[in-house]
Amino acid sequence: MEHLIELRDVYKIYQMGDEAVHALDGISLTVDPGEFVAIVGQSGSGKSTAMNIIGCLDVPTSGTYHLAGVDVSTMDDDQQAEIRNKMLGFIFQQYNLIPKLNVLENVELPLLYAGVSASERHRRAMEALGRVGLADKCKNLPSQLSGGQQQRVSIARALAGKPSVILADEPTGALDSRTGREVLGFLQKLNAEGDTVVLITHDNSIAVKAKRIVRLQDGRIIYDGDAHDPRAVVQPEAEAAAGEAREVLNL
Ligand SMILES: Nc1ncnc2c1ncn2[C@@H]1O[C@H](COP(=O)(O)OP(=O)(O)OP(=O)(O)O)[C@@H](O)[C@H]1O
Ligand SMILES: [Mg+2]
Repeated sequence: MEHLIELRDVYKIYQMGDEAVHALDGISLTVDPGEFVAIVGQSGSGKSTAMNIIGCLDVPTSGTYHLAGVDVSTMDDDQQAEIRNKMLGFIFQQYNLIPKLNVLENVELPLLYAGVSASERHRRAMEALGRVGLADKCKNLPSQLSGGQQQRVSIARALAGKPSVILADEPTGALDSRTGREVLGFLQKLNAEGDTVVLITHDNSIAVKAKRIVRLQDGRIIYDGDAHDPRAVVQPEAEAAAGEAREVLNL
């Protein structure tokens, strides 16, 4: 079967003077349509580097990346931009909404760039706003919305392009925990309705809302499986530290 996302032995190596930093150190990963995957790991483990490659914002140093069967690992900037527009919907920690445009215009903007007609833009934007429960706020300016609502507008903007994959990099990073859970609830709902979601987070309590967790450490995958398996959320270092503490305390 053809996978939606297929990374094969992907390396991303940065040469820093004499030192080669292996931001990704041989990653193989497949994602199928309808999955909800959280990529987790500590700061510096390679999450954003993986996200940039999956999101066609960067290419691997070596290894291959196929998106819906197309080899994107060797594409130039223009070809990558086209694939991004067609296939990917991005949600970031900062909502990146344009303050002077109202909610509807913000959601329509990428469609305008993609050359979609005015009536079709309006239809798709209103449909996407309906899916995140904000159709009634379509004439508001971003400043007239709460943080959680602004993030939902950015989710609608990602959805309006009808992407094959929704990529969310720390989407709850700027939100309080209750609002963060709400936004996660929307991603779960979209996934239940058939959308494929790849979520990047350092927060285990957010990651367990996905169906599958991929844990990175030092640019390598150290766990890939069910999000509800205890091994998915155990940090090896924390385990080791707990073990040492138990020994010291003779427990
Ligand atoms: N442009 C770059 N040049 C050199 N080294 C880089 C570059 N980008 C990332 N790195 C290094 O690659 C490693 C992985 O970085 P990455 O940004 O993917 O981590 P991360 O898991 O997203 O961390 P965080 O949770 O802090 O965002 C780090 O050691 C980082 O210093
Ligand atoms: Mg990062």
